[in-house]
Amino acid sequence: MATKKFELTDVSTGKKTELPVRSGTIGPDVVDIAAVNKDHGVFTFDPGFMATASTESKITYIDGDAGVLLYRGYPIDQLAEHSSFLEVSYLLLNGELPNAKQLAEFTTSIQRHTMINESLLRMYNGFHYDAHPMAMTSAIVASMSAFYHDSMDIYNPRHREIFAHRIIAKIPTISAAAYKHSLGQPFIYPRNDLGYAANLLHMFYAVPCEPYEIDPLAAQALDLLLILHADHEQNASTSTVRLAGSTGANPYAAISAGVSALWGPAHGGANEAVLEMLEAIGSVDNIPKFLEKVKDKQSNVRLMGFGHRVYKNFDPRAKIIREMCHKVLAKMGRADNPLLELAMRLEEVALKDDYFVARKLYPNVDFYSGIIYSALNIPRSMFTVMFAIARTAGWVAHWQEMISDPGMKIGRPRQLYTGPKQRDYIPAAKR
Ligand code: CMC
Repeated sequence: MATKKFELTDVSTGKKTELPVRSGTIGPDVVDIAAVNKDHGVFTFDPGFMATASTESKITYIDGDAGVLLYRGYPIDQLAEHSSFLEVSYLLLNGELPNAKQLAEFTTSIQRHTMINESLLRMYNGFHYDAHPMAMTSAIVASMSAFYHDSMDIYNPRHREIFAHRIIAKIPTISAAAYKHSLGQPFIYPRNDLGYAANLLHMFYAVPCEPYEIDPLAAQALDLLLILHADHEQNASTSTVRLAGSTGANPYAAISAGVSALWGPAHGGANEAVLEMLEAIGSVDNIPKFLEKVKDKQSNVRLMGFGHRVYKNFDPRAKIIREMCHKVLAKMGRADNPLLELAMRLEEVALKDDYFVARKLYPNVDFYSGIIYSALNIPRSMFTVMFAIARTAGWVAHWQEMISDPGMKIGRPRQLYTGPKQRDYIPAAKR
């Protein structure tokens, strides 16, 4: 098969360069632009990475036009129906689904790493009661680098594996401690006999003075949400983890950077923003007025939970969540939840509106996730933390993939400089 090439011509000098085109297993080809600077002395310019593949990866594939999401080749709907979050985490980390023995060993390893150092626990007391749990979570994850010196050689594959198990095991404990701190309740230690999602519910809701019974549907819904949020190729937070990790920084620092990047409302913070938006709209009657505001570019108001950089069709995760949302609310006796009704009506109206149709704006993963979290009594400030717990598996898989690549380079983009040209310093008295 002939190797594909892309020809670049500088029309002012007539100089031509043949750029190699690389093909993946599926998806668009990429043009390798390394020679552009060498041959022509220019850089490419692509703010927001609208047309730039930042890396090669074997982990996750998205076809945004068809609404397809694959983890290591497996469609998200099949994993959502048949798998579990820990199995998906193993898949993301190792590239293959585990056999029964591998899954049992992985599960045991995660369950044995759930506790956090008591000194880390004492750090929460330094936070005010109303500190945002994302602030606590990113700080405590970063602080883990001060504790686990025994396994921090990033070029040692065994150390990387210990780190991966440790952070996936401890992120629920870290997040639950942030939640308990905000409530002023005692921290609840993990229970290693419980599944990943059930243990999370236990650490959130149990109190020392009475038994707490875990609702299996709540654990199932949570596990599903964790699967759906586990990875999403080179999104902003994953790219942040890769960029921070590319400097050789310790992996806890890199993951903490990812938690911080996730926090923004254009990314993981959207689930919190969706609920705020629904409450602000208040009732179905106010939808037209709200959508007028969204369409007015001066207003800076967006329909939160709608639109995606990659999906120009239904986000496949949104469809699965919508279905689970109905099941959870029906079970909780809240099938007539006014926020769900409002969200469904808003979705219906927006999908018929020319503004959203023309721009191919569809509901994304966060449009319905907040409604399930609320039904599970998870407070709004914890929504993005829930996302972070799930995405930790993806972040770690991407960090591992990058560090184990012998050709890894520090991420160092260039710029188009538009500031002042060189000028001489003038002392203050003469300015
Ligand atoms: N409401 C109203 N208009 C929108 C929206 C929206 N939610 N999203 C995009 N647009 C418009 C935007 O104004 C622009 O219009 P025009 O062409 O007239 O200037 C056009 O659609 C393209 O938008 P963009 O901002 O250039 O697209 P992007 O790829 O840079 O942004 C996005 C993607 C997700 C940041 C954006 O769609 C958005 O802000 N959505 C709301 C926030 C949200 O739900 N985020 C969660 C994303 S999914 C979870 C995750 O990955 O973290």
